[in-house]
Amino acid sequence: IVALILTVLFGYLLGSLSFSYIIAKKIKKVDIRQHGSGNAGATNTLRVLGIGPAISVLALDVLKGIVAVLVAAWVAPDDSGLFPALAGLAAILGHNWPVYYGFRGGKGVATTIGVLATLVFFPALWAGIVAILSIFVTKYVSLGSLLFAGLTPLFAFLLYNHYDYPVVYLYLAGFVALLSIWRHRANISRLVTGTESKLGKKTPAES
Ligand code: G3P
Repeated sequence: IVALILTVLFGYLLGSLSFSYIIAKKIKKVDIRQHGSGNAGATNTLRVLGIGPAISVLALDVLKGIVAVLVAAWVAPDDSGLFPALAGLAAILGHNWPVYYGFRGGKGVATTIGVLATLVFFPALWAGIVAILSIFVTKYVSLGSLLFAGLTPLFAFLLYNHYDYPVVYLYLAGFVALLSIWRHRANISRLVTGTESKLGKKTPAES
């Protein structure tokens, strides 16, 4: 139980490192949350700072999820998969509600990609392909994010017998999908009304 608490805490503290916030502060001395969509994430970094910083943010935020899961699996190897699943969830919660930045973070997509790609690789891969295609076609990153979050548990469920994951990974993927829908609720209403911002429109920070 001590190991469980420590790995979950580690996941949360690691997830709380908001790389869009850190990188925007470093290179432009701005709070990313006061520009563009106001979200502390890779998509808004692209909007506000451009492609280079956005790729770094995406990679680092994905990495947080991977590291949180792997550390938990390493610290407490067991067949139930509970430790990695909870540590991964904690990293996503940290990304969304970071302890270091007043609990105002991102929508958790990049960190979710890291967590789910580590736990349920193939379902995440298929969902990722659909998501990327949808972003290319529609230019809506939020729609791609929602497709990734929604399709990964569906594919994990359909492929469950084939890959033999701990069942707790399915619960996690389902819960994370609900969390993602909740975090994207403003994006969803903008998608419905056709006012969601499309990829390629930059809103650079002034200072
Ligand atoms: O991952 C966040 C993305 O799905 C939407 O971001 O900044 O357009 O709200 P944003």
